[in-house]
Amino acid sequence: MKVKLASNYGFCFGVKRAIKIAEEYKNSSTMGPLIHNQDEINRLQNDFNVGLYKDLKEVKDDDTVIIRTHGIPKNDLKNLKAQNAKVINATCPFVTTPQQIVKKMSKEEYSILIFGDSDHPEVKGVQSYGEDQEDVHIVLEPSDLEKVNFKYNKIATVAQTTKKKEKYLEIVNTLILKNKEVRVFNTICDATFENQDAARELSNEVDVMVVIGGKNSSNTKQLHSICKENCQDSYLIENEKEIDKEWFKNKTLCGITAGASTPDWIIQQVVNTIEACH
Ligand code: F3S
Repeated sequence: MKVKLASNYGFCFGVKRAIKIAEEYKNSSTMGPLIHNQDEINRLQNDFNVGLYKDLKEVKDDDTVIIRTHGIPKNDLKNLKAQNAKVINATCPFVTTPQQIVKKMSKEEYSILIFGDSDHPEVKGVQSYGEDQEDVHIVLEPSDLEKVNFKYNKIATVAQTTKKKEKYLEIVNTLILKNKEVRVFNTICDATFENQDAARELSNEVDVMVVIGGKNSSNTKQLHSICKENCQDSYLIENEKEIDKEWFKNKTLCGITAGASTPDWIIQQVVNTIEACH
């Protein structure tokens, strides 16, 4: 099977940075999964003895704790710092930005609106930086705004870094129709755009498309949905074990892209396996 890789795919700057930090701090543990990729987390555990805390209570004095790329809630960070643990912050700088915007704008008495998934760790972290938690609102759709009651008539908005900019615009457009002042911060990360644009382009020219990434990773799921728009035969897999040879029957060219948390060694294994398919 002939294979073509997207012009941009895989690890973004923030994930590369977090992995490098974890490799530097052997025998440490991460607060929550470092990135959305179980295989890479296993590799860090096996090769660098990097463990995982599921709960703050598991941290003991003198432990080295790495904060994951998506960040953690403000109070959790404060509590960790208050302990004798050594805290290494691997939060992506593009995630720190909306955290700081929410902190600043809510101090200036703006109501806060976050476009994102309320149960995503990044959003929970960003939300926690609001001065008044009752006045930090999270929406996914313009229609969600109907249920929102803002405390102030000034609103500041941020978006989860991996969200679609088109949908963010729809939400902001709806917001401005009903409010006098709306401060819009574009916190969507360029790395997501680059992988998405390249996936869009490639899925137009191939007859089967394989997207590699964590099934709970929001940017991988988004890449998959973009590919599906252009190429009906688009499949989302975590590694080469999930490949089904049937997908390539009577096809000539397979496009490959990968989510922002997918390491190159997994991508290479997928490429090798698909190339060996007839
Ligand atoms: Fe950071 Fe963007 Fe990656 S927010 S973790 S560089 S997708």
